[in-house]
Amino acid sequence: MDTAISRSSFRKTTARHPRRSSFSSPLRLRRTAASVVTAAITAGLLLAGSVETCAIGQKQSNHAPSGNGQKGKLIFESQGCDKCHGSLGEGVSTPGQKGGVPRIASTPLALSNFVQLVRNPKGQMPAFDRQRVSDSDLADVYAFLKSLGPPVKQEATTTGDPKVGERIYTSDGCYECHGYLGQGSTSTGGTRLAPPQIPLSAFISYVRQPSGQMPPYTLKVVSNQDLAHIYSFLQSVPKPPSSKTLPLLNQ
Ligand code: HEC
Ligand code: HEC
Repeated sequence: MDTAISRSSFRKTTARHPRRSSFSSPLRLRRTAASVVTAAITAGLLLAGSVETCAIGQKQSNHAPSGNGQKGKLIFESQGCDKCHGSLGEGVSTPGQKGGVPRIASTPLALSNFVQLVRNPKGQMPAFDRQRVSDSDLADVYAFLKSLGPPVKQEATTTGDPKVGERIYTSDGCYECHGYLGQGSTSTGGTRLAPPQIPLSAFISYVRQPSGQMPPYTLKVVSNQDLAHIYSFLQSVPKPPSSKTLPLLNQ
């Protein structure tokens, strides 16, 4: 499991120091990570048959999975898992759906059981065979679900505290790329974040597994509740970020 451990420390380093140094060569870093991950997936699949996942978890303090969570997120969406299970794997319990859809993030299942349930679902879920989604793809999806951590309470959207959010936004360095008011920055490529154009769940899943240049932030660095605070801070930012822009807009 050495490969998986080195990957988890790679991710921690990236997320804790999201400075220009890691920002300047993300492609090289990502390629290195990708080859490490490929080895880790193989190791993970071999292990899954005989060892419980918690044994792996004990060695890796943040339960870093062996699949590629970033790829897993894309597969989760392209296979339509998100349509039923929600974009954070949070599940649906609306009365309209017979029995609802279970929450699958962060899944308590071992990888092998997870794969088995996707191949041979017990009830309403359509079966996904190997031709539709390979074992290594499912290992990636599994890693993505693991990275999401415990469920975000629906109330988190409204209970986020903008003041707390502003503090975390600053201390976690989001401002370095996205600007102090989430206005975005052309020099870093950080997109405008305020006000958020995407739901909280999509916001969280992006921060966990970004698909572009942004470094991933793990659960250890910023919790889901912290992200809900940041989200409400971004919601609270007044639409015209500076009064100076008003005369321009009014011309
Ligand atoms: C059409 C809706 C639908 C889609 C699409 C879907 N699921 Fe499910 N899933 C369900 C339902 C409903 C259940 C509850 C068991 C059942 O009815 O089969 C379930 C159960 C599960 C379980 C077992 C959870 C447990 O704790 O028992 C896992 C794991 C799972 N799904 C993963 C996935 C993955 C991964 C995908 C995409 C490859 C996916 N599902 C796509 C509806 C769906
Ligand atoms: C090192 C620079 C950097 C830092 C630090 C950073 N981001 Fe980003 N972020 C980006 C870039 C660049 C993008 C544009 C997409 C991409 O390349 O990933 C982005 C995109 C996003 C998006 C997706 C926006 C959308 O509409 O699709 C969200 C959400 C986001 N960042 C939130 C955050 C939060 C929250 C933090 C702090 C916890 C943060 N970012 C820290 C660079 C950064």
